[in-house]
Amino acid sequence: MCGIVGFTSFNQVLPTLLKGLEKLEYRGYDSAGVYVNDGDQGDYLVKETGRVADLERATENKNIKGTSGIAHTRWATHGGVSVENAHPHASEDGRFYLAHNGVIENYDELRDTYLQGVKLHSQTDTEVAVQLIDKFAKEENLSAVDAFKKMIALLDGNSAYAFLLMDRQEPGIMYTAKKKSPLLIGVSDQGNVVTSDAAAMLDITHDFIELMDDEVAIVEKDKVTLFNAQGEPITRLPFHLDIDAAETDKGVYPYYMLKEVDEQAIVTRTLSQYYFDDENNIQNIDANIIDAMKAADRLYIVAAGTSYHAGLVGKRYFEQWAKIPTEVHISSEFAYDQPMLSQKPFFIFLSQSGETADSREVLDNITKQGYPTLTIANVMNSTLTREADFALPLLAGPEIAVASTKAYTAQISVEAILAHAIGHSGLNLKLELAKVAVEMQVIIDQKEDFKAIAESALSGQRSAFYIGRGLDAAVAVEAALKLKEISYVQTEGFAAGELKHGTISLIEEGTPVFALLTQAKTAGLVRGEIAQVAARGANTIVIATKELAKTGDAYILPEVNELLMPLLEVIPAQLIAYYATLDRGLDVDRPRNLAKSVTVQ
Ligand code: F6R
Repeated sequence: MCGIVGFTSFNQVLPTLLKGLEKLEYRGYDSAGVYVNDGDQGDYLVKETGRVADLERATENKNIKGTSGIAHTRWATHGGVSVENAHPHASEDGRFYLAHNGVIENYDELRDTYLQGVKLHSQTDTEVAVQLIDKFAKEENLSAVDAFKKMIALLDGNSAYAFLLMDRQEPGIMYTAKKKSPLLIGVSDQGNVVTSDAAAMLDITHDFIELMDDEVAIVEKDKVTLFNAQGEPITRLPFHLDIDAAETDKGVYPYYMLKEVDEQAIVTRTLSQYYFDDENNIQNIDANIIDAMKAADRLYIVAAGTSYHAGLVGKRYFEQWAKIPTEVHISSEFAYDQPMLSQKPFFIFLSQSGETADSREVLDNITKQGYPTLTIANVMNSTLTREADFALPLLAGPEIAVASTKAYTAQISVEAILAHAIGHSGLNLKLELAKVAVEMQVIIDQKEDFKAIAESALSGQRSAFYIGRGLDAAVAVEAALKLKEISYVQTEGFAAGELKHGTISLIEEGTPVFALLTQAKTAGLVRGEIAQVAARGANTIVIATKELAKTGDAYILPEVNELLMPLLEVIPAQLIAYYATLDRGLDVDRPRNLAKSVTVQ
């Protein structure tokens, strides 16, 4: 949540900062701002509500010049969406400028204790932080870095932050620090950058130094000075990030979401190539992971949102193939209401970003309790992958659209592979996943079918349902999330058999009910449930496998192994969500109120 970027350079920085913000917009996009310092010639602060494009327009004709600056794109936490609440925040006399990602838990208390008489212009915790820096610099005659450190030392232990600070009196220098929020320092011949996501700065560099919790760094155009939590200078070599900048571009696609839906076949095939050798034996999974999981008496999958939904599917693989009882938990619940654990638990954290604060809170708690942990994430080198005992990559490539698609199918694939590595599924899983990839492509090539389905079923509708049993029920909740989060059609994903216990009263004439039908054992029952809602006026749209299909069904799915059907059946749901959103004239990639990487609890 919130994106930060800063650049101190030998050249003009504004174009790079704005381009970086565009790449970071997935982290929040309700307002944006930029501060640029031109030394003796002055400085500029421009902030705007809305998208980065609005900020860009606001900077035009201002003749902004300067070789250092910081910028921010916001997802509101404290204070509504307004120019005053947008970052960077300035101190009262315009000396310090601060961009912040995270939440300062005790900002009320800090304001009341230290800032009596100081006029605040926003409702944000960040402004309190920058005013404190200014106060300490002035009243105690502290240098910028010491005032910065003093402010940080006052923050409540639960606070999360990534800070980027500039002092107008010292153009060319950026001060930065982080705790529980990601931040990287990029180094290059053109100058040095600070960014919350490497992808934003790949045009400048692929070499990044990781900043750790409680460390502080001073970043100049030709120098980076790092201090550990005790304030001692330390050195850390940059790592090279092997990502093609083009991977983060939309290319020929109108939206990232469509590009990422389309990439799922490639991702699934890549995973089967990466994890298996020619003999269908698992490679590239650390034997220590397998041993630790085999030693466990119960697996706990902990995740949020779409990743949690992928866990609901993975549970089946771990129980059926690996023969280990498995529980799936929502991280924000588990964090503060930890259930009674088994004797030898093993924890799996599923995440696209690897930064989800709710999951990180659980990982912290579990690490303190001394249980083994594995993170399966798309962004390696992220907080959750670094802090767990083990990590496995999803290899889905950058996922930019807020609505997660290819990370979900990659998570399910990796769970299947991992369960197979422990218990052997009896399948030639490499071959089965290759078949899935082929059939995914078949569905993707028929995307126009889903445009027609979305428009006829959902146009003008305010609510909808997805129903199914077993694995189809697990996919139904993900299908419903996809539809509601981007099209704003209020959609519930439901275990079909549970409808009659109350929810069926919501069915009205014309209510769209999408039924997923891929599991032979319960197909007859689900057909009964489809008939029950149809009898009450629902418009039923059935997506079924060839074997289970009947005349009048909306879409016939190609068939793969029944346990792997979630990988296929979710694609129609993703495309229906996409087209329903387009039909409503909404921004597919950036639904309101959301951000891609949820780094606050
Ligand atoms: C929905 C979506 C979210 C995320 C959730 C967890 O499309 O993307 O529900 O799945 O915020 O994020 P990660 O997977 O990054 O931990």
